[in-house]
Amino acid sequence: MCGIIGYIGPKKASQVILSGLQKVEYRGYDSAGMAVFDGSKVSVIKDAGKLGAIHAKHDFLKLEGGIGLGHTRWATHGLPCERNAHPHADCSGKVAVVHNGIIENHRALKEEMVKKGHHFSSDTDTEIVAHLVEQGMNDGRSAEAAVRAAVARLDGAYALGILIAGTNALYLARRHAPLIIGQGKAGEMFFSSDIPALLEYTRDFILLNEGDVARIDPRGAIVWGADGHEAKRETLHVDWTPQMAAKGGYEHFMLKEILEQPAALSSAVSADVSAALPILRASKQLALVACGTSYYAGLVFQYLMHRQGKPCAAYIGSEYSSWTTGQEDVLIAVSQSGETADTLGAVRLAKEKGAKIIAITNVVGSTLSREADVTLFIGVGPEVGVVATKSFTGQLCVLCKLAYTLGANKQGLADLKQIPSLSAKILEGKHADIQKLAKAFIKRRDFFFIARGINYPCALEAALKLKEITYLHAEAYPGGELKHGPLSMLEKGVPVIALAPAGPLAPKMESNIKECKAREAELVVLSDDEAMRAEGARSLLMPTVPPELVPLYYILPLQLLAYHMTVLADKDPDQPRNLAKSVTVE
Ligand code: F6R
Repeated sequence: MCGIIGYIGPKKASQVILSGLQKVEYRGYDSAGMAVFDGSKVSVIKDAGKLGAIHAKHDFLKLEGGIGLGHTRWATHGLPCERNAHPHADCSGKVAVVHNGIIENHRALKEEMVKKGHHFSSDTDTEIVAHLVEQGMNDGRSAEAAVRAAVARLDGAYALGILIAGTNALYLARRHAPLIIGQGKAGEMFFSSDIPALLEYTRDFILLNEGDVARIDPRGAIVWGADGHEAKRETLHVDWTPQMAAKGGYEHFMLKEILEQPAALSSAVSADVSAALPILRASKQLALVACGTSYYAGLVFQYLMHRQGKPCAAYIGSEYSSWTTGQEDVLIAVSQSGETADTLGAVRLAKEKGAKIIAITNVVGSTLSREADVTLFIGVGPEVGVVATKSFTGQLCVLCKLAYTLGANKQGLADLKQIPSLSAKILEGKHADIQKLAKAFIKRRDFFFIARGINYPCALEAALKLKEITYLHAEAYPGGELKHGPLSMLEKGVPVIALAPAGPLAPKMESNIKECKAREAELVVLSDDEAMRAEGARSLLMPTVPPELVPLYYILPLQLLAYHMTVLADKDPDQPRNLAKSVTVE
């Protein structure tokens, strides 16, 4: 969580940082701030609220100078307010720090610094870093030595950017949180938590390793590894363009990312999965780990592999340590960002026990892709909206391709090729109906989604989409589970959205639909069977699609439903409250 960015070079730093912060705001948006050195002093502007509102109130661009750093926050320690917003300064106001992560030993370090006379102005764990650096310099260390000594004392997770007046440099440190260095035109360097923040200026990056400390200045970068020695680090040229990470005329990123799925999925279905096959073929016990939407994509894979006779249990990242038997020799980790702490925690645990890791991610250079033995990229382009849309369907494409290739399923592989054109048809064909449905349901407070078998993860994902951006109550159940409890919640007019394609599970779904109707619930049935569709007044007739691809196709109108209900409720689908993209804390 938390987006960070820094710049050193001939441009006006506040301009570069503001445009970068606008692109990383999806990481956190409860407060934001910036510090710039103008050659004589470090000036800070920060406040609670969204970046645009803070800029309108304080005008970041009044900060002059060519060295600076900025932050957009998702609060962990301390309420979102001006005092707790980053950057945080030392007592002298010469050191400014931005941080993503959690410094676990901040309390003990603070006590020590307070005894030495330091005065703290915030409730955050981050501020300790500024005081440790200040103390190091008070003790006679150079700025560089003070930073390295301070970082050596930190426990926990951090991506740190540190500005020290008069050094003509920025200092960085990384442990369990994403941080990249951007190489600009001659004489300028950047750092950021995210590649999209810098695409306007560079597509060339230096990837920091766990435990690295670095210094950037107009001549370039110096990196010290965890062992304290100077180190060379991998460089990366990305083919993402600034346009891919821009709204491109759409009102919201979420709508853009939903509607661009046909093109994005054409790249996902052509992903090369071959590198993972030998490891999978040789595996004795296979498992998958992921969180949120990525976990639901993983559940679909669990069904596919079960049917293929090669079981693969799917685990939620944060639960993996409670469930692992330590027997799995291959773990598939699915993560759009490749930075999710819960997923990475599971990966590290499995690696310790000797498992091989196959990563499925969207972000080249992400921590997951660098820690895995083999990485498959879903290739759907930057996903900026906080909620996952095209990454879910992109993950499904790659997971299905993996399962079908492994199982030599020619028909399955042929079916994948139809995804770009058929998904375009569904998105175009159902959009108007979904807008009407959103209007009809805007006053409802509770929603139920039901499905069976491989379609159940799609119901889970549809409910997650709806609840996370509308803040309405939405739950998903296997159709057969309603009668074991949740049916008592149904009453007249409660919407029940049933995913009920024709097929072997249809008769049982029909019974479940009727059970809901008998309680006067309002049914919306998504089906390719006209008779089934007729069970609900506002139902959607879907095209007939391969049974294993129902989750991929049926989620499309339900993503649109969540989007339109959110916009009608005058809420922001791109930045839902309390959430942030890329969850880098456990
Ligand atoms: C929901 C959503 C989250 C993420 C989850 C995992 O719309 O975006 O549930 O799916 O935080 O994130 P990644 O895939 O980046 O590991």
